Amino acid sequence: MASSTVFFFLLTVISLLLTHSHAQSTCATQKFTNNKRYDRCSDLPQLGSYLHWFLDTAKDSVSIVFIAPPATPDGWISWAINPTGDGMAGSQSLIAYKASNGSILVNTYNISSYGSIVEGKLAFDVTDMRGEYSESDGMMRIFATVELPENGQTTINQVWQVGGSVKAGGFPARHAFLAPNLGSKGSLNLLSGEIAGGGNGNSKTKKRNIHGILNAMSWGILFPVGVIIARYLRTFPAADPTWFYLHGFCQVSAYAIGVAGWGTGLKLGSESKGVKYSGHRNIGIALFCLATLQVCALFLRPKKEHKIRFYWNIYHHGTGYAVVVLGILNVFKGLQILSPASKWRSAYIIIISILGVIALVLEVLTWIVVLKRKRKSVKATKPYDNGDAKQLPLAP
Ligand code: HEM
Ligand SMILES: *[C@@H]1O[C@H](CO)[C@@H](O)[C@H](O)[C@H]1NC(C)=O
Ligand SMILES: *[C@@H]1O[C@H](CO)[C@@H](O)[C@H](O)[C@H]1NC(C)=O
Repeated sequence: MASSTVFFFLLTVISLLLTHSHAQSTCATQKFTNNKRYDRCSDLPQLGSYLHWFLDTAKDSVSIVFIAPPATPDGWISWAINPTGDGMAGSQSLIAYKASNGSILVNTYNISSYGSIVEGKLAFDVTDMRGEYSESDGMMRIFATVELPENGQTTINQVWQVGGSVKAGGFPARHAFLAPNLGSKGSLNLLSGEIAGGGNGNSKTKKRNIHGILNAMSWGILFPVGVIIARYLRTFPAADPTWFYLHGFCQVSAYAIGVAGWGTGLKLGSESKGVKYSGHRNIGIALFCLATLQVCALFLRPKKEHKIRFYWNIYHHGTGYAVVVLGILNVFKGLQILSPASKWRSAYIIIISILGVIALVLEVLTWIVVLKRKRKSVKATKPYDNGDAKQLPLAP
């Protein structure tokens, strides 16, 4: 009895919430100083944007008002139809921004790929372009009438975006690559108003973050720690076989995590069609090759007494330092691409600085120990002294 009451109560609350949120689409309350009629509107799922439209089936054209807050008051907003695909690449785009004299300009841009944004004609005609900006709510508006790419078309792939600045000469500067910026796309049914696809870009962002964390852990932190262990622990005879196992363990686990991170990177690269971060990618590939060699070399090293061992050491140390330098460099390159909240960059800088200070202190300590031993061993090898020079690890 009590439970069914609770059940119906919950049902009522849920249905109230649902109908409430349905009736409450914000776009329905927006008004324009414009004598055109827009009979449909939709709250777009990303970037706090709205679209109002009127479909003229006789003329195969659609009149739109796109409303969005530019990322800064000096930024830009853009709405586009992509006749050939579903993302930014290929989209035929309208971009609005504030000109230096204060008026709002709207221009058309042919975005044939992520790297090619050309102002000029689109694949379809656009008329009645006009822009507005309202200081009071920070919203910019694009008004336009667009010929539909195909006759009788009622569903389009729409793409929208906001950016923070415009370059000198009036060209939009790149937008952020956060989840809402990557999810601002999808199909729109002009008859029913139904919006589909697009998602929210979160899954991509999650993948990128996993990629970043794995690689920063491995190439950016564990590999340098392993090198520090090898370089400085070895000085102390008490740590003799231990340092070797610690070093091996550290580098092999760094390698395992690093390969996983490298794999996620290859996957991300293949998914971002048209975008190439060549530097970051090439360093990543070089790192993978060097580290693979290094791990193989661990198993192929000649005996300590063997005369090739000297050359093996040079090779092993050289490759090791190269991996550390390239690894740290690539973490910074990756941070630049991901542009996460600045605290992540700061956190990495702090970790690397602490490792740097530890290495510096150990370097000084090692030199002190080594020099002391040298003095001692010189004394010890004097003929009248039956010293134990042979047992000193650093003696020849
Ligand atoms: C102004 C210069 C612009 C540059 C340099 C630029 C660059 C990029 C890049 C490199 C990506 C891919 C990010 C990734 O997958 O890792 C991207 C995605 C995206 N861009 Fe742009 N963009 C610009 C303008 C625009 C404009 C005007 C629009 C609006 C029509 C737009 C809409 C989008 C959307 C919706 C995505 C995510 C979906 C996709 O990957 O296609 N972009 N942009
Ligand atoms: C402002 O400058 C643009 C070109 O940059 C021009 O098309 C527009 O007419 C100007 N507006 C005013 C009010 O002067
Ligand atoms: C847009 O740019 C692409 C690549 O440069 C070109 O092939 C295409 O014809 C252009 N579209 C228009 C309408 O100019």
